[in-house]
Amino acid sequence: QYKCFIFDMDGVITETSEQHYQAWKQCADELGIDIDRTFNEKLKGVSRMDSLERILAYGNRSHDFTAEEKAELAYKKNENYKEMILKCTEDDLFEGVKELFEGLKEKGIKIAIGSASKNAPTLVNLLGIKDYIDYIVDPASVEKGKPAPDIFLKAAHDLGIDPSACVGVEDAEAGVEAIKSAGMLAVGIGEASVLHQADMVYAHTKDIQLADIL
Ligand code: BG6
Ligand code: MG
Repeated sequence: QYKCFIFDMDGVITETSEQHYQAWKQCADELGIDIDRTFNEKLKGVSRMDSLERILAYGNRSHDFTAEEKAELAYKKNENYKEMILKCTEDDLFEGVKELFEGLKEKGIKIAIGSASKNAPTLVNLLGIKDYIDYIVDPASVEKGKPAPDIFLKAAHDLGIDPSACVGVEDAEAGVEAIKSAGMLAVGIGEASVLHQADMVYAHTKDIQLADIL
């Protein structure tokens, strides 16, 4: 019997993975590194600094910057990203999310946010879903980001629920890997060919069938 659903946010609850991509693209362009959407799949779910490192490695520029310069690049990306999400409202919630949350609440199943994003609490407020959420993991409080299981395990631990009674919902390869390493059921959102480690995959969040999962 599942007692908790742990949702990734960017790309699962709302389409902010697009804004992350746009902000990184701008950063990469300024460094003369050409990234595309295929490469971006490898950035999904990955922390801010790790994403920057992956971009620099992709452009063979890992050793061109000091730690301070890297921190500055990441800071600029985030300022740009924050500006892009400033206007997010309830209308930016993916179709079906509220209904899904209602369905879970009715069954007494807890809802947690297990996002790698430090902007998650801000977005939860902007999207008007705060009242549904029992717990938001602070990604700064865990040692390792996705694909390590830490973020998902932290949610289960702090809610006092065994990982085997948790379902993780993810759109990222790194995220699905994290859920499986945490010993949870993995629901993928997107393409089965990308999310091949997931136990089940739906194209969109609105396609999730609770009856199939529970
Ligand atoms: C993840 C996104 O949810 O959060 C990544 O998929 C992003 O693209 C990561 O880099 C960290 O987000 P933030 O808001 O802390 O820079
Ligand atoms: Mg995501």
